[in-house]
Amino acid sequence: MEAVSSFCGFWGGILFIVANAYYPARLIAKKFFRPWPKDLILFFKRYLKAHMTLNLIAFLAILIHGHYAEERNIYLTGCFIVTVFLTVEGILMHYRVIPGIQRQLRMLHTQQTLFMLWVLLIIIGHSAV
Ligand code: HEM
Ligand code: HEM
Repeated sequence: MEAVSSFCGFWGGILFIVANAYYPARLIAKKFFRPWPKDLILFFKRYLKAHMTLNLIAFLAILIHGHYAEERNIYLTGCFIVTVFLTVEGILMHYRVIPGIQRQLRMLHTQQTLFMLWVLLIIIGHSAV
């Protein structure tokens, strides 16, 4: 089961990186192109789809990874909670489950602080085990 945990941790990590490079890529594109050419708009439309799909698969992998991991600490538990939070927000926002809070959800999901906290918790949590 340790091998299963390692396998899922590794692939979850890779998928999270590819899925969420969407964020810095958009920031960079915003800085260099104004207005955006048609190709770029299409590229980010497709990338957003990949962002959602890959994050969902990574989330499942991390569920298995965390479940079978042999140790944990407060940072990893925090990391898990933030991962669940971001995934649920993303799903609620995309499928417009609660239309009344769409604006708040978008603000929560796309803000830099929560994203940075998430990355920090992954790094600190794993360097402490
Ligand atoms: C959110 C994202 C997470 C990512 C991307 C991630 C990724 C990884 C990776 C790549 C490894 C190294 C795999 C290896 O060679 O053993 C690892 C190890 C580990 N992870 Fe995570 N992890 C995450 C969340 C968690 C959570 C929530 C827990 C605990 C509940 C956890 C517990 C561990 C432990 C204990 C190890 C050390 C190796 C082991 O004993 O299995 N990780 N993680
Ligand atoms: C741990 C998982 C996730 C992280 C860290 C994350 C992070 C982010 C970040 C930082 C942005 C902002 C991009 C920008 O402003 O340019 C974003 C946008 C977005 N995310 Fe996620 N996300 C995750 C999972 C998901 C999931 C699972 C879904 C849906 C199924 C989703 C749907 C969206 C949508 C629709 C946007 C675009 C919002 C907009 O511009 O209107 N995300 N995500």
